[in-house]
Amino acid sequence: MSDIKRSIWPAQRQGRGDSRPADSVPERRWSASSAIRRASEAGSARAGGFLPGRFGAAMLKYQSRQIWSRTVNEAHRGLKVRPFHADDIPALLHWFPRPEALGQWGSPERSFPLDTKQVEAFLSQTVGGDPKAVMWAGEDQGAMVATATTFMNWHQGVALLGLVAVSPTMRGRGIAKPFLKEIIALTFSDTRVERMELNVYTFNHSAIRTYETLGFVKEGVRRSLARMGADRWDAGHYSLLRSEATLG
Ligand SMILES: CC(C)(COP(=O)(O)OP(=O)(O)OC[C@H]1O[C@@H](n2cnc3c(N)ncnc32)[C@H](O)[C@@H]1OP(=O)(O)O)[C@@H](O)C(=O)NCCC(=O)NCCS
Repeated sequence: MSDIKRSIWPAQRQGRGDSRPADSVPERRWSASSAIRRASEAGSARAGGFLPGRFGAAMLKYQSRQIWSRTVNEAHRGLKVRPFHADDIPALLHWFPRPEALGQWGSPERSFPLDTKQVEAFLSQTVGGDPKAVMWAGEDQGAMVATATTFMNWHQGVALLGLVAVSPTMRGRGIAKPFLKEIIALTFSDTRVERMELNVYTFNHSAIRTYETLGFVKEGVRRSLARMGADRWDAGHYSLLRSEATLG
C-alpha cells in the first residue's frame, strides 16, 4: 500500500464505520482540513506577512509534503503536489497569453491579463480551519508546473474543482492526471467530502479526457454558459463521488 493510501485509509475506514480493531489501523491520521488548520495555526517563516503565504510556508513544513512527494514520484517522475503559495504567482501570470486562454482556465469573467491581485483574491480564500478554497501546486524540479483549486462547501460536503492548468511548456505529457489524482485523494481524505464536481468547456478535449480518465461522470451540459467575445461556450458538468474515486 502506498504511503498516501496509508495516510488516508484510517480516516476513510472510520468514516464508514469500520469495525476493525484500532491496532490494525495505521497510526498516521491526516486530512486536508486538519492539515490546513494546523498550518494556519503554525504561523509563518515567510517574511511579508500575507496570510495565505503563511499558510503555504507552514504547509511546506508539514510532514505530509514528503508523503505527497513519494506518492506522485511513483506516478509521474519527480512531480510533487504541495499547497500553492504567493511565491508561485509570478510564474502563473505568464500561463495565459490570450483572453480565450484565460477564460478557458476559469471563467471569461477573469480580467485579462491575469494579475497578482486576481490570484491573491483566490489565495485569500485559503485561510482558516475550514477554508473556502484550497489552492494546489504541482512542482517539478523546483518549478511550479501545475495548479488547481478546490472550492469547498463544507456544509454540503462538496468540493468544486477549478482553475486547473498545466504550464504551457509542460502540456501534452499527461501531467494533469497524476496531479489531479493526488488532489482527489487528499480532498476525499477529509471524510466530510462526499462529492467533487467541475465544469469544463465542451471544446476542451484534453481536459475532458483527463477528467473522464480520473472517473468523473458527466451529468449534463450547461448550455451557452459563458460569453467570450462574440462566442458563447457550453460547459459539461461532471462529478465524482467518494464511492467512485480511486484513492490509492
Ligand atoms: C487541460 C490541461 C490541464 C491538460 O493537461 P495535460 O496533462 O498536459 O494534458 P495532455 O495534453 O497530456 O492530455 C491529457 C489526455 O487528453 C488526451 N488529449 C489531448 N488532446 C486531445 C484531443 N484534442 N482530443 C482528445 N483527447 C485529447 C491525451 O491523449 C491524454 O489522454 P491519454 O492520457 O489517454 O493519452 C492542459 O492542457 C491545460 O493546462 N490547459 C489550459 C488550461 C485549461 O484548459 N484548464 C482546464 C480547465 S477545465
